[in-house]
Parts: sequence; structure tokens; C-alpha cells
Amino acid sequence: MNSIARTYMKLKTFFYWHFLSDNHNVSGHPVLNGCAVCLGRGTIEFGNNVHLGFYPSPFLFNTYIHLEARESNCLIKIGNETFFNNNATIIAASSPSNKISKILIGSDCMIGMNFLCLNSDFHALQVRDRNNPARVNTADIQIGNHCFIGANVTVLKGVNIGDGSVIGAGSVVTRSIPANALAVGNPARVIKQIQQGDSL
Ligand SMILES: CC(C)(COP(=O)(O)OP(=O)(O)OC[C@H]1O[C@@H](n2cnc3c(N)ncnc32)[C@H](O)[C@@H]1OP(=O)(O)O)[C@@H](O)C(=O)NCCC(=O)NCCS
Repeated sequence: MNSIARTYMKLKTFFYWHFLSDNHNVSGHPVLNGCAVCLGRGTIEFGNNVHLGFYPSPFLFNTYIHLEARESNCLIKIGNETFFNNNATIIAASSPSNKISKILIGSDCMIGMNFLCLNSDFHALQVRDRNNPARVNTADIQIGNHCFIGANVTVLKGVNIGDGSVIGAGSVVTRSIPANALAVGNPARVIKQIQQGDSL
């Protein structure tokens, strides 16, 4: 990237982070490689050296990373050294039964572009309840440490992905995945266990 392009991107990133973000409960200082916003009345916690965005990868110039802890009892927590490629969306919303509504992402995770992580369906199945918050299914999401999430992966409500697991590109994860598993597809299914040796 030449210096004019770099300056433009820095200004744009600054504008998104400082002027388009409206969340006042953000802790930590992620490395902003591209535009990102933190929205909502909940809490967003970044560990050390979390990276948001990647150059050179697609979508850096025309998208942003959207982190939203919608209501005051919502929590998004991201562990140390976790990297997000471009155009990630993470939204924690609460249901009336949630005490704290969580999306927890561990340390040392690598997350591919176009990641979508929603802990709520946001709308109910039945037409008459579509916009009735009391009937919306919401459940916490937890992604462990050392996970590798491929590009274009969606993680839906209630999913727990164990440490060291890999989710293949394009997968829609609707059910929990154990540790050290390779899961792929829509809906994602475990296709093998990964032997990690003694390295972790
Ligand atoms: C479709 C949806 C509402 C169904 O929720 P649900 O009724 O609670 O369904 P369940 O989670 O119990 O899943 C039922 C089965 O369908 C599968 N399934 C659910 N959603 C799926 C999806 N999006 N793609 C593929 N399979 C899906 C599940 O794996 C499960 O099959 P299994 O038991 O064999 O594993 C929900 O899974 C979903 O896709 N929510 C969309 C969230 C969203 O995008 N909201 C709008 C944001 S603006």
C-alpha cells in the first residue's frame, strides 16, 4: 500500500473506531488493521494483541468488523493473540431469561474472512412471534483456544467449539464441536480428530 492509501485507511479506521462506535464499555486495545466498530450497551473485552482485519486480504477496503453487545447484560470477550480477518460480524443479544448473554472467543484463534457469529436467532419461527423478544431463541457461544475458523463460517446460538478445533471454510456451525476436531459443512459435522502431539 502506498503512503496516500495508508493515510486514507488510517483516517477511515480512526473514524469508524472513534466516531461510528457507540459502545462505552470496551476494554483492551486491539490492533486495528482495518475498520471496526463496537456497538451496543453491553461489554466488549479484548485480550492482548487481538488483531482486527488483515492486509492483504479481500474486503479490507470496503467492509468493516462489526462487534455488537446489544443490551447491557451482553458480553463479548476475545482472548489474547486472536486474529480476525476482514468483515467479521459478532453480535451478542439477550433474551428475557439470560442473566448474562455471552460470546466468548479464546486465545490464539485464527478466524477467516466473513466470519458471522450470532448468539440469537433474533426472530422466532412462528409468524405471530417473529418480533416477540420473549419467543426468540438465544444461547451463549464459546469458542476455545487455538481454534482455526476458515473463511465464510457462521457460528449460531448455543455452540461450543473446543480447544484446538478447526472449522472448514463455508461451514454453518449449529451444534457444539469437541476439542481438537475438524468439522466442515452445512450444518457442520465432525469429520476427524486432529492429533495435536505435545505442542500445545
Ligand atoms: C433456522 C433457525 C432459526 C433454526 O433454529 P432452531 O429452530 O432452534 O433449530 P435448531 O438449532 O434446533 O436446528 C434444527 C436442525 O436444523 C439444523 N440447522 C439449523 N439451522 C441451520 C442452518 N442455518 N443451516 C443448516 N442447518 C441448520 C440443525 O443442525 C439441526 O439439525 P441436527 O439436529 O441434525 O443438528 C436457526 O438455526 C438459524 O439459522 N438462525 C438464523 C439466525 C439469523 O441469521 N438471524 C438473523 C440475523 S439478522
